[in-house]
Amino acid sequence: MGASEKEMTALLRQRGFLPSASIRSRLLGLDDLEGVLNCSGEVGFEKGFLTNEILESMLQVWNQKNKSEPLLPTPAREKTPTLGRTIAPILAPEPLDLKFRNNLPDWNTADFSENASDAPSDILVHYDITGNSITEGKMADITSCFSDRLQSIRKMIIQNSNLPRTPTEISRLHAESSRYQGYENKAVAIGLVNEPRYTKNGHLMWRLEDETGELTCLLTKRKGDDRDRAHEQILEAGLMPDDVLGVSGTFSQTGDMFYVDDLHFPMQASHQKTSAEHGVSVAFISDIHVGSKTFLEAQWHKMVRWFHTDPLAKTIKYLILSGDCVDGVGIYPGQDSELSIPDLFGQYTEFARLLELLPDWVECVMLPGNHDAVRPAEPQPTFEKDIQQDYNTTTFVGNPCDFSLHGVRLLSYHGKSIDDFVAGLRTVTYADPVEAMRQMLRRRHLAPQWGGKTPLSPEPEDGLVIRQVPDIFVTGHVHGHACVDFKGTTLICSSTWQDQTSYQRMLGFQPKPCMLTIVNLKSHATTSIPFA
Ligand SMILES: [Fe+2]
Ligand SMILES: [Fe+2]
Repeated sequence: MGASEKEMTALLRQRGFLPSASIRSRLLGLDDLEGVLNCSGEVGFEKGFLTNEILESMLQVWNQKNKSEPLLPTPAREKTPTLGRTIAPILAPEPLDLKFRNNLPDWNTADFSENASDAPSDILVHYDITGNSITEGKMADITSCFSDRLQSIRKMIIQNSNLPRTPTEISRLHAESSRYQGYENKAVAIGLVNEPRYTKNGHLMWRLEDETGELTCLLTKRKGDDRDRAHEQILEAGLMPDDVLGVSGTFSQTGDMFYVDDLHFPMQASHQKTSAEHGVSVAFISDIHVGSKTFLEAQWHKMVRWFHTDPLAKTIKYLILSGDCVDGVGIYPGQDSELSIPDLFGQYTEFARLLELLPDWVECVMLPGNHDAVRPAEPQPTFEKDIQQDYNTTTFVGNPCDFSLHGVRLLSYHGKSIDDFVAGLRTVTYADPVEAMRQMLRRRHLAPQWGGKTPLSPEPEDGLVIRQVPDIFVTGHVHGHACVDFKGTTLICSSTWQDQTSYQRMLGFQPKPCMLTIVNLKSHATTSIPFA
């Protein structure tokens, strides 16, 4: 069993550790809290703010020391208490079928019907922060950003969610709380989530804030017939700080607690994809990390050869590069020793040369990631003109970018916030990053958490709200690979072109490199070609 709240506080005090609010519940869930805290020396943490990152490092050390304990898969974890959860695939990776395709098509010619050179270029950008950033980072900007987020997502919740009645301002609900104490008369509010946390009994508690006030909300574990899957999924996953959501429920007798019956998200039930008139295709890669010693150059040339010889490649009109195009300089301590090209501009020039090897019917769309030479705060504007001048047939956009190719709507986001979703939601892991993408669509927001691992720029119009459901939603960053449908949107976790780094080896994380994901814009058929 884990420590009690009191025991945990004492253990933390003794050591001078100050945990952030979001990880207190994680600490309470640890079977061997003291053992994990005792690993602080090994990760170089003496005292101060205990962040999720430091805790992850301590858990890795603890796991190393206690290797005899098998790591249990998710369903078994519920029955048998074990240490925290596995956030990265630290067991040996399943062997991937990475053989070259040997000229045996696993795609249907009818689904990939038009050669790229037969169609005109048709790129229309709907949202890109480049040249449009107006924030000064002042308190007023932060307030505007959050109020825009609340107003925009509130409209989506009212439109897409089955609210039992019209939402009411929180201050009015407080004033009339006695009206909403019966079982029948439910109150509805929409607001921003503050400090979500688990109680000792496994209930989920948070404060919900709108422009007028705050509610203390409690979502309880249900038993027997009362259990329903949606309710349990939310309890299992948790909530992200700064999520916008709707609640319906009733007040406690004293009026200071709101018992939540249902949560209401802004996502619509299903999405109807647009089909392009032209049967050309779009391909996706990300996280090329040119300039790093672990960039997989031989596999790049294998892909270039394929582009020039395979009939499927002739249909690829667009190549989306979803950030971390180069490894960058000074991104993490000791990076110098892991670079094959130590000069930042040299890295971009080399990447331009590598793209130049692709056939001339391929047009690139390139956006930055957290390793690129642009401001780290999201939304990120695109690359400077000095960098762009080396590239031909490339459209440079910011991160994220909402754009259309032949009328098919794409949302491309590098994916830094997946780090926050892994830390904040118990059902999201690095082994299954598309779950983070599902959660983003569900919330209609790419990076809800302010003050987490993703630096955010408080633009007066929140640039990370997903204002229109995309036909194709693509991310990178986590160096995994997936291509799945989710309620009518194709979710693509773009593959990397970087081998396992020493940091990933230390964490036991196995990337899935060198997969080219291809989607046809007319048929929406998908295929992935391995080059590793
Ligand atoms: Fe990356
Ligand atoms: Fe990244």
